[in-house]
Amino acid sequence: METSHIFWSLILVIFSTFCLSLHHKLKSTNVNRNKSSSTASADEEQLRLPPGRTGFPLIGETLDYYLNSRKGTHFKFVMDRMEEFSTKIFRTSLLGQKMVILGTVEGNKFLFSNENSLFQVWWPKMTDKIFPKSDDQPTQVHAKRLRYMISPLIQKVDGLRECIGIMDDVMKRHLEIYWKGKDEVKAAALVKKYTLSLGCNIFLGINDQNEIDEIVTGIDDIEAAFFAVPINLPGTTLSRGLKASKVMRSKIEAIIRHKRIHLGSKKDSVPVQTIVKDFISHMLSFEDENGQLLKEEDIASHLVGLIEVGYTYLHSTLTMLIKILADHPQVYDSVLKEQKEIASSKDSSGRLKWEDFRKMKYSWNVICEVFRLCSPGVGGFRETLTDVKYDGYTIPKGWKVHWLLHSTHGNPEYFQEPEKFDPSRFEGDGPSPYTFIPFGGGSRMCPGNEYARLAILSFVHYLVNDYKWEQIIPNEKISYFPVQVPVQGLPIRLYHHKSNLK
Ligand code: HEM
Repeated sequence: METSHIFWSLILVIFSTFCLSLHHKLKSTNVNRNKSSSTASADEEQLRLPPGRTGFPLIGETLDYYLNSRKGTHFKFVMDRMEEFSTKIFRTSLLGQKMVILGTVEGNKFLFSNENSLFQVWWPKMTDKIFPKSDDQPTQVHAKRLRYMISPLIQKVDGLRECIGIMDDVMKRHLEIYWKGKDEVKAAALVKKYTLSLGCNIFLGINDQNEIDEIVTGIDDIEAAFFAVPINLPGTTLSRGLKASKVMRSKIEAIIRHKRIHLGSKKDSVPVQTIVKDFISHMLSFEDENGQLLKEEDIASHLVGLIEVGYTYLHSTLTMLIKILADHPQVYDSVLKEQKEIASSKDSSGRLKWEDFRKMKYSWNVICEVFRLCSPGVGGFRETLTDVKYDGYTIPKGWKVHWLLHSTHGNPEYFQEPEKFDPSRFEGDGPSPYTFIPFGGGSRMCPGNEYARLAILSFVHYLVNDYKWEQIIPNEKISYFPVQVPVQGLPIRLYHHKSNLK
């Protein structure tokens, strides 16, 4: 463990012990006093605010939230408070913001159905620091632009069909380089390689493995910075992440600059075929809502963001999927049966086609159950555009709202025996609407959901058709921070079996 890590851990432990004891003292005086919150403004005092507490000055309840995040018990953070206040909504203060948490399926529905009328997307300030833009437009404007830009590539069928071809090539090459001939591997490290190769192939058009490794060297520091204590001093996680982001952005900016020279000053829109084969050119010719081309540094920032988001969510899901398939041999056998049938029905090209993914029903149910139990994300944030009435309370204009997927994914009211791994929950019509929300919901739902589905299923198809595996460390401890992964990188023993793959 690095010295700086030990130092910050100590500070955190001392600080949190102090804060938690103070917090219990405050609890009796702070609960349910809608009118007397020390931070409530005069206007807020007129409103019936949801019950809750604002915790300590500046940090609010961030520490308790943070400590629960480290243990993977976000669910407890929400349920404890909903029980304490006997409500479906409570107020808190996180990340320096007055915040409300809607912890039920009705809350999810309300939030996701009122996008842009009552709520707009909001990201913690840290996001702007890690992925800065040259103008001072709010995050919402950049997020909207990004959605428009990536839509033809990862949301439209034509773009996704092209992505499948790239995923096929990347996965075959990946198996050949990193898995073939090995008796034992550390699955987590290899999965990281796969997701980064995919991101760099699709978004940067780069398939040289050495070049990819060079570009993404600091990616884990960037990932950690997202969830770090917001202290930017030399040696802190945040400081390392900011530095890594700057380095990665400048490498990608150089690639963009080179591309700009070849593209010239052409502003014509780029056809879909080229968008997929050359996403950077598409971004260079993309005009924003004011008809302006984007600056190279902003394109670089968006690209680092895309590679990083895809990486964070995908590597954790795939690693936990490999672990769960080892823990449940019968589930593995059923996935293999399905994937073998698909492999034997392929044409002579040996490539996966769009239609094949529709046949992967059982495999997808297994992946959904992995999302439910081990979702890499926590949820998302919104900001109220006006005073919002909900369940008899008012959420004032400008307050933040946090939705957490664990509050429904782990709730026995919606999923019987929630701790049990059971892919059959997703058979037939599957879970009720707004209970299973790994990608969020409504118009703000994760734009990478289809890309993620195809990337995970391609990986599963090729891996299970070639290998069975067992864990070398049974019951390996899980770390939940920054995302869920086994602490020792999931070492597995491989058994190569004769596959139908062409
Ligand atoms: C296992 C895979 C993934 C999961 C579970 C996941 C989940 C999520 C969630 C929960 C959100 C927040 C939505 C909200 O605030 O309501 C989100 C946002 C986002 N995701 Fe994903 N994601 C995954 C993969 C990806 C991939 C592969 C990409 C891109 C290639 C991507 C791009 C984005 C972007 C750009 C946003 C921000 C959208 C906005 O602010 O409008 N995601 N994702």
